[in-house]
Amino acid sequence: MARISAGVATSHIPAIGATIDNGKTGEPYWAPVFAGYDWSKQWIAEEKPDVVIIVYNDHASAFDMRIIPTFAIGCADRYGICDEGWGPRPVPEVIGHADLAWHIAQSLILDEFDMTIINEMDVDHGLTVPLSLMFGQPEAWPVKVIPIAVNVVTYPPPSGNRCWQLGEAIARAVASFPEDLNVQVWGTGGMSHQLQGPRAGLINAEWDNRFLDLMSTNDGETLRTIPHIEYLRETGSEGIEMVMWLIMRGALGRMVKPLHRHYHVPASNTAVGHLILRPAESSSSEV
Ligand code: DHB
Ligand code: FE
Repeated sequence: MARISAGVATSHIPAIGATIDNGKTGEPYWAPVFAGYDWSKQWIAEEKPDVVIIVYNDHASAFDMRIIPTFAIGCADRYGICDEGWGPRPVPEVIGHADLAWHIAQSLILDEFDMTIINEMDVDHGLTVPLSLMFGQPEAWPVKVIPIAVNVVTYPPPSGNRCWQLGEAIARAVASFPEDLNVQVWGTGGMSHQLQGPRAGLINAEWDNRFLDLMSTNDGETLRTIPHIEYLRETGSEGIEMVMWLIMRGALGRMVKPLHRHYHVPASNTAVGHLILRPAESSSSEV
């Protein structure tokens, strides 16, 4: 059977992608950001997941105001690279796992999550920067990817509670796939950041660290009730990206074991946060 072996959360700041692509990761401003991913790179090289379900948001790169899916699942064999800002990154195309993706789509929809099914899509920094942070600069990405795109760009985004429930439904879907696959779920975006207006550059390290604390404990469920307005007030207009972390966290179940944590301020306009969690029920052989 397929199983979810771990969850990863990470910011997906586009300037991180540009820094990697331009060979500047050793610069003093950036070195501490990347140092927090050294452990993660080594860990994932040993974990060797077959498939990663990457929960991310498109930033008006592939979608625009004509179509705004709340929750979308990529069921394609491959995804091209696109981006805003610096433009498409020079990274390998992203290879999908259509069989598992269609299975998850069916399971979610019959489980009453009305997903948008996407068969053709390019992916932006929301998905490619986490891949680069975890895998560096390989010729080809060493995992298959199932993109789950969440609307957090145009009001109204989904609630944290609904995101958590979607994570639980993803876990049920993966557990009912008959092939033996090591699957990870990644939640991307965050942490506190605001990119425009008088509060541009807002960072709330205290709030971010409380969020990281709760994500890492068996009390993570309390995060389900944070209202949109709290993300907006406390973490800036783009802090709402953190609801995507709750999809990953919901997929792991109540009990988790934290394996790694990193927090650094600032990177571009944004606080960098990163967590690696193990679902506790499946970790008995690990520790
Ligand atoms: C920045 C962060 C983001 O998450 C994003 O999508 C775009 C820009 C930033 O910090 O510059
Ligand atoms: Fe973003």
